[in-house]
Amino acid sequence: MPSTAPFDAIVLGAGGAGLMCAGVAGQRGRRVLLIDHAGQAGRKILISGGGRCNFTNLGAVPERFLSANPHFAKSALGRYRPEDFIALVDRHRIAWHEKTLGQLFCDGSARQIVHMLMEECAKGAVRISLGKAITDVSHADGIFTVCYGDETATAPALVIATGGPSIPKMGATGFAYDLARKFGLKVVEPGPALVPLTLGGEDVLFRELSGVSAEVVARAGKASFREAALFTHRGLSGPAILQISSYWRHGEEIGIDFLPDMMVDWTLVAKRARPKTHFHTLLGELLPGRLAEALAKKIGLWGELANLPDAKLNEAARRLADWRFRPNGTEGFAKAEVTAGGISTAELSSQTMEARRVPGLYAIGEAVDVTGWLGGYNFQWAWASGWAAAQVL
Ligand code: FDA
Repeated sequence: MPSTAPFDAIVLGAGGAGLMCAGVAGQRGRRVLLIDHAGQAGRKILISGGGRCNFTNLGAVPERFLSANPHFAKSALGRYRPEDFIALVDRHRIAWHEKTLGQLFCDGSARQIVHMLMEECAKGAVRISLGKAITDVSHADGIFTVCYGDETATAPALVIATGGPSIPKMGATGFAYDLARKFGLKVVEPGPALVPLTLGGEDVLFRELSGVSAEVVARAGKASFREAALFTHRGLSGPAILQISSYWRHGEEIGIDFLPDMMVDWTLVAKRARPKTHFHTLLGELLPGRLAEALAKKIGLWGELANLPDAKLNEAARRLADWRFRPNGTEGFAKAEVTAGGISTAELSSQTMEARRVPGLYAIGEAVDVTGWLGGYNFQWAWASGWAAAQVL
């Protein structure tokens, strides 16, 4: 097997985290090799944000990231902030805009972000190998050896940046976990996150509303998000649902407030003001028609408000403010925007991302048990954790 010249660091995975880490380390003078089995770097960046890449969020505070150790992400997020990435984007003259809720998108195309990161790697003279499978990784006498395609490379530092298994058709794998376990690192059970929820049983009727959406407050445990929810032919999706899916656990219920702007006594107020109005007509003025009809049917209130008892109207308002669904599952890794869980943060330094018991081994990005909210948070974690590791390679 041909052996390449030794490197200072080998980065596995040319996604957001790996590209950032390789480029920054290269520009610090390190000889870096970046390897990806896909034929193209940054494939998830290319499809992200509907092709415009929601590359960061102005509100990327640590509280908006989930992890077994909620403090872990603080150091990296605090040292490489959204404004640092914005400065990079500006240096590359990429036009961007804030869409909503602090979410920043390219005006043009996500390709610009990949191009920018590739240019940063070129500036750092990073050697990039694409389209060759990694066949072996070993470690002896402080040196890591990686066999890929028909080549072998060695370095005293190895960075795991191969992401999580969400969207396998994009080349995503559980390779990071296999490698981590091989080196004796614990992995927090991975699961799909930012993922649509499926409905069955009594809730199956709601699947007939496929395509209907409404602005709601969705709740799971202590988490709540006010955004759009969308009924699908399998259950529930839309930003509000994707957000709470990261907090939802199998077997639990979620709560949906379909009328988050209404006061608790709105049905009684309406009864006094418009006694002749039918309940389902009233609901139809506040919610999309099909949804209003389905909810009125489930509640079982028909007729003019004047003829409906106050207690029933109160009860209807209460139900609409906290409609209980018991999802029977998620649409799985095939549809999950990210993977929750991953390489345990207990194994890593929060400053450097280096494995405590394997000096020279690092893990960054989605491979690590840090999961952001929807809206640019996960890329900010990829950039920040990649940057943190690059400072010490
Ligand atoms: P990432 O998965 O990007 O990169 C890992 C790399 O490792 C890939 O290039 C892969 O080919 C490679 N790899 C995997 N296994 C390998 C193996 N065995 N050998 C060699 N290479 C291997 N986030 C956000 O903040 N804003 C957004 O707009 C979006 N939008 C979005 C849309 C969609 C459809 C998805 C699926 C995800 C998003 N995300 C997002 C999430 C975001 O894409 C994700 O969190 C980051 O890409 C994670 O970056 P990483 O570099 O850690 O992994």
